[in-house]
Amino acid sequence: MTTGVTFVGHGTFLIESGESRILIDPFLVDNPATDLAPADVSVDTILVTHGHGDHIADLVEVASNTNALVVSMVEISRWLGEKHGLTNLHEMNFGGTVQLPFGSVKMVPAVHTSGLPDGSYGGLPAGFVIQFPEGTIYFAGDTALFLDMELIARVGIDLAFIPIGDNYTMGPDDAIEAVKILKPKRVVPCHYNTWPPIEQDPAAWAARVNEQTDSECIVLESGNAIEL
Ligand code: NI
Ligand code: MN
Repeated sequence: MTTGVTFVGHGTFLIESGESRILIDPFLVDNPATDLAPADVSVDTILVTHGHGDHIADLVEVASNTNALVVSMVEISRWLGEKHGLTNLHEMNFGGTVQLPFGSVKMVPAVHTSGLPDGSYGGLPAGFVIQFPEGTIYFAGDTALFLDMELIARVGIDLAFIPIGDNYTMGPDDAIEAVKILKPKRVVPCHYNTWPPIEQDPAAWAARVNEQTDSECIVLESGNAIEL
């Protein structure tokens, strides 16, 4: 079996693991980094980190089209059921782990906010630690640097996706500190260059990671993939 992650763009990822196809944070139509349309997406599982539009704008359409299982924070899950009529939902909360066909998914904290587009309360924002047969991936979601990343690191992270854009999340300097705490074997930056307030130089950041930490940094262009 193999597991690969395609960086769709911004904070959206497509994971292919054996027979499973997993979409993280469906943001497609208004995402300047991708031409992928909701109708082109065929997945069986959708993981949602938080309620902001640049993470869930196309969630209801993709979930309706595919009947994929949507895994999210309790408040988002109930909003999807009550306001949007979705039924294939798995609600969870921090510290919880769910076993899915491709592996285990643990919901971990993120330091950010999570209001839903219609003003509904979305609970708190999350990251995910996913254990596949080939290794462990950490998707930080939108977050500031926080010291409890040290606890997340204890599982042993093979591959981490972390934001570097600044303004809405941690920026390049704090993201370096995050890499030092998380100690992933490999790290991929995300959530940058989508709009002017989050413009960054990912190659410069990668050079800093490779100089200042024991992790290997890989910069993915939108549409490119990395194998676990
Ligand atoms: Ni956000
Ligand atoms: Mn965001």
